[in-house]
Amino acid sequence: MYRTHDCNALRPADIGKTVTLCGWLNSRRDHGGVIFIDLRDREGLTQVVFRPEEHAEAAAAAHGLRGEDVLQVSGVVAARLPGTENPKLATGAIELVAGDLTILNKADVPPFPIDEEIANEDLRLTYRFLDLRRPRMARNLKLRHRVVKTARDFLDEAGYLEIETPILSKSTPEGARDFLVPSRLAPGLFYALPQAPQQYKQLLMVGGLEKYFQIAKCFRDEDLRADRQPEFSQIDIEAAFITPEDIFSLIEGLFRRVFQAARGIDLPTPFPRMTYDEAMNRYGSDKPDTRFAMELRDLGDVFAASDFKVFKGALAGGGVVKAINAKGFAGVTTGQIEELTAMAKLHGAKGLAFIKVEKGEWKSPIVKFFSEQEKQSLRERLGIEEGDLILFGADKWETVCNVLGRIRLRVAEIQRLTAGMEALHFLWVVDFPLLAFSEEENKWNAVHHPFTRPLAEDLPLLERGEFSRVRAQAYDVVLNGVEVGGGSIRIHEQALQARMFEVLGVTREQQQTMFGHLLRAFSFGAPPHGGVALGLDRIIMLLCGTENIRDVIAFPKNNRGMDLMSQSPSEVDFKQLRELAIQVVKKNP
Ligand code: AMO
Ligand code: AMP
Repeated sequence: MYRTHDCNALRPADIGKTVTLCGWLNSRRDHGGVIFIDLRDREGLTQVVFRPEEHAEAAAAAHGLRGEDVLQVSGVVAARLPGTENPKLATGAIELVAGDLTILNKADVPPFPIDEEIANEDLRLTYRFLDLRRPRMARNLKLRHRVVKTARDFLDEAGYLEIETPILSKSTPEGARDFLVPSRLAPGLFYALPQAPQQYKQLLMVGGLEKYFQIAKCFRDEDLRADRQPEFSQIDIEAAFITPEDIFSLIEGLFRRVFQAARGIDLPTPFPRMTYDEAMNRYGSDKPDTRFAMELRDLGDVFAASDFKVFKGALAGGGVVKAINAKGFAGVTTGQIEELTAMAKLHGAKGLAFIKVEKGEWKSPIVKFFSEQEKQSLRERLGIEEGDLILFGADKWETVCNVLGRIRLRVAEIQRLTAGMEALHFLWVVDFPLLAFSEEENKWNAVHHPFTRPLAEDLPLLERGEFSRVRAQAYDVVLNGVEVGGGSIRIHEQALQARMFEVLGVTREQQQTMFGHLLRAFSFGAPPHGGVALGLDRIIMLLCGTENIRDVIAFPKNNRGMDLMSQSPSEVDFKQLRELAIQVVKKNP
């Protein structure tokens, strides 16, 4: 037996017991003869003391120890001397008086100290196996385990079966690029890694399994951000004979159980609901952070006949004028205004008009165009007071909402509005549009995916070709401005699915080659069904209070999609490529 206890187990009640601990040398202090070390394992730290006058051999061996050496120490648990207790440590009242020391393995000097926060993430990822020894990382992964275990138990109790679906699968259009895997047995053909198990879970419903879930690995080749990984996990759920209401209460129950188990938090349910239109109109986002106000206000009626041509023009062209009031931000610097304006322009705005309210005066390049009536309406609509900064958008509805939504978040970040906030604002966003027109591709695309069901009352609009007005039976669950899940009721009729593909510009032939299996399945009695997928990594991230998704994944990719530890992706042997009938064309540098 290697050990009797872990390094977080011993308490005053254990004083006098003979025990054995194993772990890594976290730190060492030499007090002229007497040596103290902190021994670390996954669970915590225990102080070990080597006394040469009592155990000469062990103390002599302890002299040569270095950080991260792997040790086994046996001895007797003793009370620490009065005044030397460490109340910050669970084991801080006791120490282990070492009798025997076995060095299980020696360690080289680590490239960074394990017991400090370090900033260089590339270095951390290169030596991830050392980074994982840090208590914060162990805590995050333990919490992840707790969440997954709780979710599994909850779904099992609700009658859901965990069923695995293929990783070598067929391209599913979830909106990102696929990772492809070449086939050796059929040269020139490729598997795709699943962006989500979407089609398989629907086929399980056709297969009569009724209630499915899976902790599913998903792969998406897209631009990476702080909360995105090319390889991530979903708690993926699908059920037959289910309504959105059933799904909302299932997921609310799941979140309640998970937040209770992971953090002891009693979440209030049901979560509030907001339509997509309302979310866009009030927060300029389909994943609104409702922890602070700074809401978008519509000013169309105020400026319809304005002398300010920019506003009047936007309204006359069928667009909107909206503004936000950044309370207390009149002290904004010129540099910050420039940054915000550049951000607005990057997202399609033509400018970012503003008013600073300082010393009772409205400082702005545009107020000279405003009538007294307009100023009065503005004052009322936006609750303008001394010290405020008003920011305007005038353009197409989508552009104004999106731009002001982003400006709102950036201002909140600069003003640190949510810093240190404990609040958890869950909400459902419902009634998404089914389709969105892509100017770039000059065609209609699915907002979620092509299997999403239109609202029954909007089916005539789909038939009449009024695509922009068709709403979907789709919903997202949002926590503190982060989309933590999304799903929908699906199309289960072959004819409606074929019509949907047609609207999306998928030809009859493509329908057969890409989705023939699904259309065929729908012709053999597919039950009405729907589901949802929760972004597991993002949920853990929020539970751990980190903004970096890599902190909750054992072996993540960096923001260039590389695994720095194993140096992957990497070149492969010429023979491997030849077997796959693949030739690499090197781009000129
Ligand atoms: P969707 O594409 O919305 O839906 O994905 C569901 C949830 O997965 C999380 N997520 C990600 N997390 C980390 N890195 C990524 N690159 C990433 N992409 C998505 C988000 C998101 O809400 N098949 C549908 C679900 C359904 O209709 O049932 C789907 O995958 O939190
Ligand atoms: P201009 O009349 O173009 O000099 O613009 C006057 C102010 O209005 C500047 O601060 C611009 O940034 C701003 N502005 C111009 N166009 C828009 C727009 N479409 N929406 C919001 N602000 C704008």
